[in-house]
Amino acid sequence: MNLALIGFMGAGKTETAKILGEILDYQIKETDEEIIKASEFETIKEIFNHIKELGFRKLETRVIEQLSDQNQIIISTGGGAVMNQINMLNLNKNSIIIYLKTEFETLKKRVAQDYERPLFQDPNKAKKLFKLREPVYEYYAQYIIKTDDLVPKQVAEQIIKKIKAHVSDK
Ligand code: S3P
Repeated sequence: MNLALIGFMGAGKTETAKILGEILDYQIKETDEEIIKASEFETIKEIFNHIKELGFRKLETRVIEQLSDQNQIIISTGGGAVMNQINMLNLNKNSIIIYLKTEFETLKKRVAQDYERPLFQDPNKAKKLFKLREPVYEYYAQYIIKTDDLVPKQVAEQIIKKIKAHVSDK
């Protein structure tokens, strides 16, 4: 069984995954990092510049498919991964899916001036994406953690609580 973190850019997936990995002694797999490794580029920005979002999404789907075959890993997904049903079908096979839910205003503060995120350069466009994606995150989430007032350590602790309850329900 794996844990998969979903949520918008700036939700704290990367930081939370690191802490969860330490607590559970699970390996962390960041889909963005795996995408970079699977490409001929060195940053997400470069990938978007050269092969556009479509090329990025193809790599993302391939990476998620491969990660879904592994076990006892934490999969920290990119914010757009949920928009492809194939990704979610793959993740659903062997992962507990956890949505890090965050208000748009909080996200905006957290990712301000981050030039590595091509889809958060224009806050108005990002807000539209957010509105479109929010119901999709909710749809796929087995558990939802609201992160606005929490630091990643607290988010990870809440996740652990939920997982313990999940395991003892079985
Ligand atoms: C994206 C989110 C990014 C990265 C890429 C596209 C998105 O990951 O995958 O820039 O579509 O929301 P983070 O959510 O880790 O920032």
